[in-house]
Amino acid sequence: MTGRSHDVAVIGGDGIGPEVLAEALKVVDAAGVTLHTTDYDLGADRYARTGEVLSDSVLEELRGQDAILLGAVGPPVGDTTIPAGTLERGLLLRMRFELDLFINMRPFMGAPGSIAAGADFVVIRENTEGTYAGEGGFLRKGTPHEVATQGSVNTRMGAERCVRFAYDLAERRPARRLTLVHKTNVLTFAGDLWQRTFAEVGGEYPEVMRDYNHVDAACIYLVERPASYDVIVTDNLFGDILTDLAGAVCGGIGFAASANLNAARTGPSMFEPVHGAAHDIAGSNKANPLAAIRSASLMLDFLGEADAASRIDKAVADFISSDQLSHPPSGADAWSTTSIGTAIAERL
Ligand code: IPM
Ligand code: MN
Repeated sequence: MTGRSHDVAVIGGDGIGPEVLAEALKVVDAAGVTLHTTDYDLGADRYARTGEVLSDSVLEELRGQDAILLGAVGPPVGDTTIPAGTLERGLLLRMRFELDLFINMRPFMGAPGSIAAGADFVVIRENTEGTYAGEGGFLRKGTPHEVATQGSVNTRMGAERCVRFAYDLAERRPARRLTLVHKTNVLTFAGDLWQRTFAEVGGEYPEVMRDYNHVDAACIYLVERPASYDVIVTDNLFGDILTDLAGAVCGGIGFAASANLNAARTGPSMFEPVHGAAHDIAGSNKANPLAAIRSASLMLDFLGEADAASRIDKAVADFISSDQLSHPPSGADAWSTTSIGTAIAERL
């Protein structure tokens, strides 16, 4: 413990978001770290009540925090009252872009019984550019001659800072292997920029073994030999898709944590489980809080609380690898959100 208190904005959000964050905060407390938290009411619910997604003034308040912990945001599946993209672009992507959270780091560990059992790899996803940048538009919308374009924005600066972060990480890991995933055989402009950047920056990291996979092949390898990966670096959209696949092969998206990092530390970073709001199980104490707990530990690590973070990681890893999830606590038919949180907290 550093003994410092950290200012953390807590955005529980929608559905199971608040429930899983409550367990994450329980575990942080048990690890002996003091957080000074401020709750922010944001998400689909808030939008339905007030019509507001993320105001400039709330964004300014968030800038003043040390970190942001987010549960999940989004309306129930099938909801038609909120136009597609309103919350995604207005809240989540707005925070990623405006706070310059240019790295999306998603670590994976194959759970026992999953097809990736024993795998241990990290995906570094570029988080501010690519097809997510919002470049494009319509021509002649609504007519038979309608045109829609959606460009992919790739800057040398954006690719380079992402690739460099990935090399730095790979260099600190025992396997020291970094795989660039792209589609250079078809995306010959963006792919060329990424590949050149990857090769040039790689010259500064002679200890790191470099590899390249096309994204379609990477999907096969993630299913057939996930344990062969160490660190993967990729663009925004490929990273979005690959990390859902990685979550699925590693035992389910309920385990997948993520860190949206402003790695230059010019402002707060944001930490969130990869899963969504799962309105269908909200309020029933059924959601798996491990992804939120792991996201909180990524946050502690980034805030300089490496010791507490590694104790939480170890507690979670032991809990998963000893297959506790298949053995509910005595007297119960199944684990609940709160009993998992308590079990991890008790191991600290
Ligand atoms: C994720 C999510 C988001 C993304 C959505 C909700 C905008 O799928 O964090 O992976 O596409 O990045
Ligand atoms: Mn996604």
